[in-house]
Amino acid sequence: MNYPNMFKPITIGSMTVKNRLFMSPMTTNLCNTENCLTEEAIAYYEARAKGGAGLITLEGAMVTEKSHYRGLTNLGLYDDRQIPMLNKLADIIHGYDCRVLVQLLHGGPACLPKDNGGMLPWAASPIAIRTGWLSGIVPQEMPVDVIRRTVSEFAEAAQRAKKAGLDGVEIHACHRHGLIGTFLSALSNKRVDAYGGNVDGRLRFLKEVILKTRELCGPDFLIFVRLSLEELEYGGQSLLEGMYIAQQVEKAGADFIHFSRGTTETFWITTPPSGSAKALHSETAKKMRDALHIPYGVVGRISEPWIAEMVLEQGRADAVYLGRELLADPEFVNKAKEGRTEDIRFCIGCTDCIGRVKGPVTHCAINPSCSRETVRLKEAETKKKILVVGGGPAGMHAAALLAQRGHSVVLAEKERNLGGNMQTAGIPNGKEDFLLGVKSLIRSVKLSGVQVECNIMINEEYLNTHSFDEVILASGSVPIKPSFLNGFGVSAIDVLKGRAVTGRNIVVIGGGSVGCETADFLIHPRNDFNVSGKKVTVLEYTDNFAADDRSYQRTRLMERLISKGCRMISGAEVTGASENTVRYRKDGREYLLEGVDTVVVAVGLESDCSLKDVLEKKQIPYHVIGDAKSVRRITDAMMDAQLLGESL
Ligand SMILES: Cc1cc2nc3c(=O)[nH]c(=O)nc-3n(C[C@H](O)[C@H](O)[C@H](O)COP(=O)(O)OP(=O)(O)OC[C@H]3O[C@@H](n4cnc5c(N)ncnc54)[C@H](O)[C@@H]3O)c2cc1C
Ligand SMILES: Cc1cc2nc3c(=O)[nH]c(=O)nc-3n(C[C@H](O)[C@H](O)[C@H](O)COP(=O)(O)O)c2cc1C
Ligand code: SF4
Repeated sequence: MNYPNMFKPITIGSMTVKNRLFMSPMTTNLCNTENCLTEEAIAYYEARAKGGAGLITLEGAMVTEKSHYRGLTNLGLYDDRQIPMLNKLADIIHGYDCRVLVQLLHGGPACLPKDNGGMLPWAASPIAIRTGWLSGIVPQEMPVDVIRRTVSEFAEAAQRAKKAGLDGVEIHACHRHGLIGTFLSALSNKRVDAYGGNVDGRLRFLKEVILKTRELCGPDFLIFVRLSLEELEYGGQSLLEGMYIAQQVEKAGADFIHFSRGTTETFWITTPPSGSAKALHSETAKKMRDALHIPYGVVGRISEPWIAEMVLEQGRADAVYLGRELLADPEFVNKAKEGRTEDIRFCIGCTDCIGRVKGPVTHCAINPSCSRETVRLKEAETKKKILVVGGGPAGMHAAALLAQRGHSVVLAEKERNLGGNMQTAGIPNGKEDFLLGVKSLIRSVKLSGVQVECNIMINEEYLNTHSFDEVILASGSVPIKPSFLNGFGVSAIDVLKGRAVTGRNIVVIGGGSVGCETADFLIHPRNDFNVSGKKVTVLEYTDNFAADDRSYQRTRLMERLISKGCRMISGAEVTGASENTVRYRKDGREYLLEGVDTVVVAVGLESDCSLKDVLEKKQIPYHVIGDAKSVRRITDAMMDAQLLGESL
């Protein structure tokens, strides 16, 4: 059998799970404002159960009414009206021999007043979370009577999950996130009553929740707890403390622990982007082996089957959790089991899903069908001959969908291979997972029976000699050439693609994400053999660098640039360049950089839909998608392709 460790059943408490690939909880925003699952949410979860996961953890569910932690469409378990749809889902999931738990999450400091009738959020102590949309909101300290009531609310929510036919609950006590998370961590719990002080005090809330849940739900109902192995922040939970907490959780009666690391403020650790180490928490998880008697699992960038198998084979954990891997491909598990690894659509680690989690519903850049599982691809009523111009993600995805629907599709790409700028996006350091995504898309193009033509530039001449019913312009973008440079300099894309040779003293004009990633790509760490390294200066017009990069890798990118000695000048308006100089203005003063041997231009991209005029002249119906329509991101290019591919 492929991956024998992954597909070995595991007994947890009173239940056996068919394999060791569990789905991690992920907020979908697919519930309604009554906080009940919708048909869309049911279809989303069914796809992952059908795809082979052994156990599914439903997203964090509110245990009390005024605890919306992300908009108004969180799942709820605070009212019996939420039971029927959960019951429907439990039956469906069980039909695939899959176990189902729901995560119990009180958002604590993440419960914004605007979503909770103006109420200030609760926390262990009045300490604001310092990142993202929560910055600046100081929560109120939860008094003991409210703690007692909330403990009961957790247990009553678990009771509703039991009534709904679920196999158990996972209590969220991780990432210094949510209410219990703030109680557990010394960084956020400054109390001097029975719920604070040393680790036993900080643990008390969680232990009471476990004990009460067991009391109300009985011995056979599964109780999982999600914990951080360590917080990796100064003053935060150490691994030793993490071990102690886990042991106490076991003693309180938990059946299983789901381990992660980091905190809500170190989001690049909790939801690691491309470039992070694979299975980054698993080495630490292995250290729990001797501390615990109950089984445990680990999460975090276990993005390919071989990684999951290694984690299990080396005894780092008893089960692995797949999060974004199952957003990107709900069939990940079955494909691995059937040895069809090359058919898996791999998560590229762009973090658009979590970055946009406040949006209407959770999206996946590489899988636009995510959260659209109720939409079925229908065979085209009129089969057409369609030309797709451009083999970037938009062109590839549109071509594959249209061919699957029965159209006859030619996909033309002027470069040697498919990939477009998504392949370029995979060249900077740490973005190699984007290349896996490109391979996945190429594979679906091939499997769909699209006729692929590379090394062909579609132009008027080509259109004069070939006939198509419709054309899709997915021709992407071209680098902007600023007039003040008089054509001087090489584009960042040419540098990344190895089409331009750079010297030792480089000036990058434009400190957006492409400019910063290119600087990071060019500059080497200094060492004994490379004492001076390459000198790279980034000139950015605005006051921030890579401000367009909403991904979780931006923090690391900035750290790398600083540590490698990259000179970064913001508020710099470049006014001209010559053979060896770059002129810029900052704070009303003129500056001249001399001895420059390469100028790299990264001032942005502009849509390339130069074929539009020809198509209009020839009266060929056409559609523009992706960056050719407007320069955005992979998620947008793929969604344009999805909507067109479903409807044409
Ligand atoms: C360095 C870099 C880093 C990036 N990083 C990220 C990131 O981290 N996350 C993210 O979401 N996005 C990122 N992007 C943006 C992302 O790559 C684009 O949004 C995405 O590739 C757009 O897809 P597309 O299919 O619309 O166009 P493209 O990917 O640009 O593909 C267009 C294709 O059309 C071909 N073509 C054009 N004209 C013709 C013609 N006449 N005949 C034949 N072929 C033609 C081109 O050769 C090209 O292959 C990055 C881009 C760059 C350059
Ligand atoms: C869109 C999204 C929503 C998430 N929502 C939750 C949640 O409700 N509860 C939780 O404990 N973790 C949540 N997470 C974190 C994941 O469970 C998981 O720990 C993280 O994605 C890392 O695992 P991965 O590398 O396998 O994706 C979410 C992650 C994503 C991407
Ligand atoms: S949006 Fe990006 S990070 Fe999130 S699951 Fe999809 S590919 Fe992975």
